[in-house]
Amino acid sequence: MRDPYANIAKVDPSVQRKLGESLEIRAADLEMRGIVDAYLAKLNWPDGMEVLEVGCGTGAVTRLLAERPEVKKVTGIDPSRIFVEKARSLNTHPHVEFVVGDGRDLPFSGQAFDMVVFHTVLGHVPAPERFLEEAGRVLRKGGQLVIFDGDYMSRSVAIREHDPLQACVDIMKSSNSQNPWLVRQLPAMLTALSFANVQAEGYSYVGKDPSYMLDYVLRGADRLADAGIVSQEAAAALKAEARQRVRDGRFFGLFPYMSFRAIWG
Ligand SMILES: C[S@@+](CC[C@H](N)C(=O)[O-])C[C@H]1O[C@@H](n2cnc3c(N)ncnc32)[C@H](O)[C@@H]1O
Repeated sequence: MRDPYANIAKVDPSVQRKLGESLEIRAADLEMRGIVDAYLAKLNWPDGMEVLEVGCGTGAVTRLLAERPEVKKVTGIDPSRIFVEKARSLNTHPHVEFVVGDGRDLPFSGQAFDMVVFHTVLGHVPAPERFLEEAGRVLRKGGQLVIFDGDYMSRSVAIREHDPLQACVDIMKSSNSQNPWLVRQLPAMLTALSFANVQAEGYSYVGKDPSYMLDYVLRGADRLADAGIVSQEAAAALKAEARQRVRDGRFFGLFPYMSFRAIWG
């Protein structure tokens, strides 16, 4: 299956509900939570901010944004009605609103927000430039554009040369992302779109709790088999090896992420 997030509204509802569950599991991972807190701490937080999160999913990051005392209002927008309904049901903040809509055609007037956030969204969509142009339209002059995404090309679970488990991660680079090179291209893309003062930071997710990475490797093994690259038996052996490494404390994983902050106007 190609990246389901790329055309989420057309994905089977049961699959959307499962994806929604995995978004909440990822957000609850303490190591990932620490990374998100670290990049949010580096932003400017003037009082009375109005914030938009594009591609908010089930609202895990929207809720974190709402907890900042400087934030007057947060709006989360996502094309998945199922994600938006779940986001509404999980939210307890009165100053949060969730909207069903498309990041390429935002239903907001120009210069309506002080910050626009894309958290692991732009790597999943074709033509991210269109989303960034829309973000620029709705940002006030001096407003902050914030992007957080994975460096898919650097993901590794190998513990030795020619480690067969690495193939499980390598196949996910293209089947779980529209452009696995995105974060490396973003600075030039932002500058070309007239965003200024682009600042980048890197973060390493090492899977202190290996559940997310193990799940990623298991899905990669299935995709290798689905694509006919390995037999079903070989995929089962890869999955058994991954599980055994977790049990023995031999599992290694390194998934780098990057955050970007840029100023509009
Ligand atoms: C990996 S999820 C991230 C969700 C959320 N930001 C989080 O981190 O929990 C990618 C999100 O991008 C959304 N998305 C896909 N196409 C979109 C579009 N055209 N406009 C806005 N969001 C979109 C998906 O529905 C999905 O919620």
